[in-house]
Amino acid sequence: MTDKLNLTEKDIDIINSKKGLEALLRLSRLDYNKGIKNVKYEKRLEKLQEEMLILQQWVANNNKKVIILFEGRDAAGKGGAIRRIIQHLPPRAIRVVALPKPNETELGQWYFQRYINRLPNNGEIVFFDRSWYNRAIVEPVNNFCTQQQYKTFMGQVNEFEKMIQDSGIILLKLYFSITKNEQERRFKDIVTSPIKKWKYSDVDRKALTLWDEYTVYKEAMFQQTQKAAPWKIIKANRKTNARIRAFEYILNQIPYENKDVSQIKHKPFKSIVEDD
Ligand code: ADP
Ligand code: AMP
Ligand code: MLT
Repeated sequence: MTDKLNLTEKDIDIINSKKGLEALLRLSRLDYNKGIKNVKYEKRLEKLQEEMLILQQWVANNNKKVIILFEGRDAAGKGGAIRRIIQHLPPRAIRVVALPKPNETELGQWYFQRYINRLPNNGEIVFFDRSWYNRAIVEPVNNFCTQQQYKTFMGQVNEFEKMIQDSGIILLKLYFSITKNEQERRFKDIVTSPIKKWKYSDVDRKALTLWDEYTVYKEAMFQQTQKAAPWKIIKANRKTNARIRAFEYILNQIPYENKDVSQIKHKPFKSIVEDD
């Protein structure tokens, strides 16, 4: 037995010592706790996904049009949240729009033009993973636009959103908020992960150094762009919590029929789990 496991007499002594057993128990308790929390999260998520399907059917059957827009710093978890929200929705009823940097043609157009081309049609829900708000934060911070272009955008965006709403589109805006330490932790995780490192962009590379600049533009955005559609800030240091909160907000805000309010009202949800 000892030979098979390649354990020395000393190893065995350590395992059987008081310290060793305590360490083992601590570990097992932690895993047990984590398991329970994870089950709670998965169950809760599944309920909300069921409810989301009722919402989507309402949109489809009543020719409604919906935009759910996600903003937030790099690595805030926008993409991961969107993935969970759309997981069980019929692919043709929804679209996720995550545009790359504008190409030459788009640079020659009115700034909003490429977004207008992606607005929802009747019966559609469109998720924006980043949006026209690039010009409120990412672009001025990284000098991808001029100060004049920034000012023009800030002067037009409320009116742009009002026009969208007047055309019959429901517009929700969510901002995923993380702390600087958390962003740093996530970048470290992303660069060392074989399945995540593709995400690490030139913009990400500079994000921590430019943290305070991002903050200035973020605050200006909150101050100046609530007129047509308000922002909902989601605390996002805990990914599981953030996804549940974002989900609840969406289901609460959209006035679909056959809503099961008992499923979506803010129940306390505590999570210690940090998955992916
Ligand atoms: P993401 O956050 O989607 O992973 P990036 O971190 O690469 O993408 O960039 C953040 C945002 O900035 C993206 O929406 C991207 O399109 C935009 N962006 C990147 N480079 C430029 C550029 N040169 N001009 C304008 N926008 C840019
Ligand atoms: P909780 O999961 O709610 O217990 O949060 C754990 C820790 O993360 C707390 O110390 C919070 O202050 C912190 N935290 C979570 N999200 C944010 C955020 N967006 N901004 C600042 N702190 C946060
Ligand atoms: C983000 O918010 O960083 C991206 O949208 C995706 C993610 O890291 O989960």
